[in-house]
Amino acid sequence: MIESFEELEEQIKDCHKCKLCNNRNNIVLGDGDKNAKVMFIGEGPGADEDIQGIPFVGKAGKLMNQAFKGIGIKREEIYIANIVKCRPPMNRNPEQDEVDACLDYLRTQVLLVKPKIIVLLGSVAVKAILGKEYSITKIRGKWIEKKDIKYIATFHPAALLRDEAKKIVFWKDLKEAKREIEKL
Ligand code: URA
Ligand code: SF4
Repeated sequence: MIESFEELEEQIKDCHKCKLCNNRNNIVLGDGDKNAKVMFIGEGPGADEDIQGIPFVGKAGKLMNQAFKGIGIKREEIYIANIVKCRPPMNRNPEQDEVDACLDYLRTQVLLVKPKIIVLLGSVAVKAILGKEYSITKIRGKWIEKKDIKYIATFHPAALLRDEAKKIVFWKDLKEAKREIEKL
């Protein structure tokens, strides 16, 4: 059992557990406050994240930062991570074997951070964390409690770049998350 972020970083730094290791420049472990009460979970690094080694710094990340600013969520007060830590080629969705290989790292991150609220960004995060039977279109914006953690799902910010109409819903869901964060 890994007991600190130092141990986790040591273990992951040369990870070859799945084929995503072949094309990565950097492993993108996570960013933000390691003692945060709120965690955001995305899918996997894109090109900018792969270069910088930091999650959500590209186009989708900038859009999310704008929403955070408008709603009053401070990025430095939350912790952000992804389902897979290495960039899938051409930004394709991570495949099941890759999710399976990588998920223990995220489980460890959750155990170390001990968040009270987890915001799941998009379908890949929903299925990997809550289970395959959950569908983003059915559960987004609703609270689901499991083992003392409250989960809320919304669209992945990259989906907003493709479909403007989703922006309103994304903001609504983040505002709902913020309402609950304020109660902590
Ligand atoms: N999309 C994700 O899911 N994660 C990132 O870190 C960047 C884009
Ligand atoms: Fe290892 Fe995860 Fe990267 Fe695969 S995606 S090589 S499991 S760190």
